[in-house]
Amino acid sequence: MSTVLIIDDNPAVATALDVLFSLHDIATLSAQTPQAGLQLLAGENVDLVIQDMNFSADTTSGAEGEALFAQIRAQWPDLPVILLTAWTHLERAVELVKAGAADYLAKPWDDGRLLTTVNNLLELAEAQRELDRRRMREKQRRDKLAAQYDLRGTLFADPASERVIALACQVARSELPVLITGPNGAGKEKIAEIVQANSAVRNGAFVTLNCGAIPSELIEAELFGAEAGAYTGANKAREGKFEAADGGTLFLDEIGNLPLAGQMKLLRVLETGKFERLGSNRERSVKVRVISATNADLPAMIRDGGFREDLYYRLNAIELALPPLAERPGDILPLAEAFRGDGKPFAESARNALLRHAWPGNVRELRNVVQRAALLAQGERIEASDLHLPKPPPQKTAVTVEPEKADIEAALLRAGGVIAQAAADLGLSRQALYRRMQRHGIDNP
Ligand SMILES: Nc1ncnc2c1ncn2[C@@H]1O[C@H](COP(=O)(O)OP(=O)(O)O)[C@@H](O)[C@H]1O
Ligand SMILES: [Mg+2]
Repeated sequence: MSTVLIIDDNPAVATALDVLFSLHDIATLSAQTPQAGLQLLAGENVDLVIQDMNFSADTTSGAEGEALFAQIRAQWPDLPVILLTAWTHLERAVELVKAGAADYLAKPWDDGRLLTTVNNLLELAEAQRELDRRRMREKQRRDKLAAQYDLRGTLFADPASERVIALACQVARSELPVLITGPNGAGKEKIAEIVQANSAVRNGAFVTLNCGAIPSELIEAELFGAEAGAYTGANKAREGKFEAADGGTLFLDEIGNLPLAGQMKLLRVLETGKFERLGSNRERSVKVRVISATNADLPAMIRDGGFREDLYYRLNAIELALPPLAERPGDILPLAEAFRGDGKPFAESARNALLRHAWPGNVRELRNVVQRAALLAQGERIEASDLHLPKPPPQKTAVTVEPEKADIEAALLRAGGVIAQAAADLGLSRQALYRRMQRHGIDNP
């Protein structure tokens, strides 16, 4: 049950409101002076305050109410406060709403309207608390993961990333091959590092081969090694990556670029642990944990005959699918803050621009954009213009047009007169909504 604190020097007000609220499952507390009100706030769980503007019969300036409101705001910044005041003080009340009071109502008040306002504010506050609780739980889960595993400095805040990282940690200890999928720059290599760092062979070698970075005819020699004279230019015998990774981990990046012949040999090593160097018949045995990664659509490649289905099933015994950055927006600002380092802070405009951009190049693009902006920004802060991001295409659904008088009136009605809610509905700040109400001569219904 929610509790409303009524601070009013006239006990009849508290009595009337107590009767009204008790019919609607809302408990009340009351105080007749600002001091008593603040004392109750300090000692009790209060969800909302309804306060008067004047507390002594001989004062009408509203200064006492203003001072009380300032003290409440200072100590309980999120507590919703409704100003209930004689119509002669409405102007003062409007000023305070601009300063963060939730709403104001004139005495004598309309019960229905007051009740709607109170209920809306209580719901809003409960929704905010639920959001805070969820964020807290998410943070606890992240902290626990970081305490339990070596996350290789990987930064994340979005639940979608957390799921992939938690799964990576969980499967790290097994010997099964892991396939990491996701677009370029999403952080697949970081996930591979996490798997390696938490595996049973973390003290063994960590050998990487980027199958996309070397000519396809040389990949097999890279992977399996070659005897002298095995191919043109092979003057000396050489060890392959599988031998180098024996007892440790082999990370095969861009596995989609491995030619079919290499795929067949890779399948055999994965199944038997055995292979031969190019130009040799001598069978060699290794024990290697294989982690592979790709941005390619391997199932589509299988349909086109470019990738072996049997190898695919072997590699993806465990698949870690890393979503593009745009699908884990909770990561954007924490990553941006980290990439900016100790430099200038972001202006609000920059943060909004970072959140709006689609990030086709994912974390890599974000890092480059932020580091360049941090280096070149001229002002005190990094502004949106320093980021040089392309303008987002206009969104059809977003309301970017100036709301008409009728829109404002409709929003106020929908919000039951709660200014904060109507403003959020219209995508305006409270002050901006007030200015427009004044301009259009709209009284709060
Ligand atoms: N979650 C993260 N936290 C910190 N750095 C990251 C994160 N994800 C990616 N990076 C950095 O972004 C760059 C691109 O990541 P990388 O793992 O190479 O992407 P991919 O292999 O998917 O192309 C690297 O410099 C990497 O260190
Ligand atoms: Mg990569």
